[in-house]
Amino acid sequence: MLRERRLPPPDIFPPEPWALGGVHFDPALSRDFAGQAETMFALSNGYLGIRGTPDEGRPLQEPGVFLNGFYELRPLNYGEHAYGFPRVGQSILNCPDGTVIKLFIDGEPFIPAEAEVLSFRRAVDFRIGALVRDIAWATPTGRRMRLRTLRLVSFEHRHLAAIQYELVPEDADAEIVISSEMLHRAPLPGDGFDPRLAAGFGDRVLQPVGTRHKALRAILSYSTARSALVLGCGMDHVLETTCPFTQEGTCTDDFAAVAFKVQGRRGMPIRLWKYLAYHYADRSDPAEVRSQVAWTLDRAVQSGFPSILKQQEARVGRFWAHADVEVEGAEPRLQQVIRWNLFQLLQATERAEGHGVGARGLTGKSYEGHYFWDTEIYVLPFLIYTQPRIARNLLKFRYDMLDRARARAKELGHRGATFPWRTINGDEASAYYAAGTAQYHINADIAHALRKYVEATGDEDFLHRFGAEILVETARFWWDLGFFSPRHEGRFCINGVTGPDEYTAVVDNNYFTNLMARENLYYAADTLDAMRCDHPDAFTALADRTGLGVEETAEWRAAAARMYLPWDERLRIHPQDDSFLDKEAWDFANTPEDRYPLLLHYHPLNLYRRQVIKQADTVLAMFLLGDQFSPEERKRNFDYYDPITTHDSSLSVCIQSIVANEIGYARKAREYFQFAATMDLSDIGGNMRHGAHIASIGGTWLALVCGFAGMRDHGGRLSFRPRLPEEWSALRFPLAIRGRRLRVEVGHDVTTYHLVEGDELTVLHDGVVEVRLTTTAPTASRPTPPPVPEPIPDFAPAAPPARS
Ligand code: BGC
Repeated sequence: MLRERRLPPPDIFPPEPWALGGVHFDPALSRDFAGQAETMFALSNGYLGIRGTPDEGRPLQEPGVFLNGFYELRPLNYGEHAYGFPRVGQSILNCPDGTVIKLFIDGEPFIPAEAEVLSFRRAVDFRIGALVRDIAWATPTGRRMRLRTLRLVSFEHRHLAAIQYELVPEDADAEIVISSEMLHRAPLPGDGFDPRLAAGFGDRVLQPVGTRHKALRAILSYSTARSALVLGCGMDHVLETTCPFTQEGTCTDDFAAVAFKVQGRRGMPIRLWKYLAYHYADRSDPAEVRSQVAWTLDRAVQSGFPSILKQQEARVGRFWAHADVEVEGAEPRLQQVIRWNLFQLLQATERAEGHGVGARGLTGKSYEGHYFWDTEIYVLPFLIYTQPRIARNLLKFRYDMLDRARARAKELGHRGATFPWRTINGDEASAYYAAGTAQYHINADIAHALRKYVEATGDEDFLHRFGAEILVETARFWWDLGFFSPRHEGRFCINGVTGPDEYTAVVDNNYFTNLMARENLYYAADTLDAMRCDHPDAFTALADRTGLGVEETAEWRAAAARMYLPWDERLRIHPQDDSFLDKEAWDFANTPEDRYPLLLHYHPLNLYRRQVIKQADTVLAMFLLGDQFSPEERKRNFDYYDPITTHDSSLSVCIQSIVANEIGYARKAREYFQFAATMDLSDIGGNMRHGAHIASIGGTWLALVCGFAGMRDHGGRLSFRPRLPEEWSALRFPLAIRGRRLRVEVGHDVTTYHLVEGDELTVLHDGVVEVRLTTTAPTASRPTPPPVPEPIPDFAPAAPPARS
């Protein structure tokens, strides 16, 4: 099922390969699409995120400056409470905005929407990692002005953002005032009913705890009442011009400004550098946090903007060297879209150290800045194969939550640990248990990601020091949650769970969950047995830490070996759960287009009692654990589930694309891929203004690498089964694997593997042919398998009319 896609028109948004932005200024567009532009032009380094609001501070839709993990607690109020419901929610907070630079010429404010704009460009430049703007206009008194700005959020210094603001009165002198501000805004009204958005706070959240103000510098600080965090944020300036000027500053609890009054001279540039610093700390002395802000500003002023920009380019350059995916022969827009997606992955993760990755990264506060399974299943694969160090940090972050996950399991009456479905601080923050706590599969998802990381990097040290403990506690949890059911011939059943598909909740034996839990149990037992033999000291330390019983690994193996995996002999498919096939079909033919996403128009019970799917569930299992399915099972499952999947979650189409490719549905694979890749830029869900869909963005990389190049890594063995779309001429990408660097190039005739760094590596081509790469013979080409005729689906679609 595909919704309508509208990409921005090429005359307004040219399809540049290394930038995305507009070259035409339209006041109505700038107002109506302010929210989308704020997301499209958002900058972030994984710690500090700034929405792409204009420097002038208007128009604004959802302005935001976010710090990863900077949140406040709020009571979760239930009409009817029950045992084990989380009582406290967590919400990421909007910090004071330091990006505002207002401009006044001859006493009149410069407001682009009201100005006579002569030329315009505003774009995020992927190569320098910055938002650039170049605008020329005529003032009402006929003077021609030109403003060039460059905004960046530093990847090198994660607390720092910097703006270069360069104004030239091109053809006449002018009286100019540049007012640079930092302000704490009152929250804007919400968006009506949408459960995916952040809940608001009734009263003021950031309490002022002091300011510091001197010359061109101002620092504000705040504390939060319940999460007990202290925030410091500040700005400093350097002005460079040969025009005469004076300056003055003001600073109150919620507002600081430095105004430069410049006697602008024709043709003489006025260059302002503005540095922004943001720090927060737990239960700290506000004066100390303000000092940290001051030190960051000192460092920035000392090194100067050109050197900060140079470092930015160098870091972004390193990212592209390890992560760029090139598609040749396709319409030029596609390359641009792919790079925008990859750039979002860089922005969401690069400096997240000690924190997770929110469902919208730091581009918006939808989903309250919470971390979900999105990270492990959709984002980590990209990181594991391009930036393994960051993948490690994110897994370590999960490890750091383990104590809270143990406490949560205990609270729910279980052994082991169960990770929160959504969280910032490690505690469960989902108020709706049916689509929250019940998604226990998150535990197996984390274990799965851990396994992928260890197999792809060989980082056994991480496994022994941290990962194995996660495995012990999650395996214990599954063992405790399930039971050997006499009604299922003594098979191990796991009841009362919700799988990835949130339109089917609290069911018995969700196929995805059981299969993933089985992997979790086996992996835990195998890891511990291997540690016992090969690393006895690490094993003993782990056994002491976790109070491991002698019989436990055998129990886990028994549960895994007898895991119940639903199978329907009549349809020859894996039912999504025990009851799924008994449910009534959803009436797609009579569901109007405007009722999607269904979750906004139907009571959950209406969805739960029907065969209607929000997102890939069994199909996702076929991707993650694909070696456990026969080709026939794979095809019949896909044919059954695909037509009844609405893709109302952005996490769906990327996975459908990969599995469609594997089965040979080339056209569908391409359509789903386009859908995933342009999820945000064509605003398919209509909610891009609330932030970028980071899981779908990670899924876009998966769809390219695992879909069109057919990469799989079952058991740590890299294999490829390339299927290049007809209209592309080549697909190229790098991969990091066990300390080596590999480049893969898929063409229609040959696929080439090139070992760029490291010694020997063997990969499987077309799933079966061994290709050995060595330092002396680092490059090998093999014929790309020819396209196969599209198979005929096994089930007639009971489906909705296809939406193009
Ligand atoms: C999806 C979840 C996902 C969450 C955050 C929901 O709509 O159903 O699978 O984790 O969004 O992205």
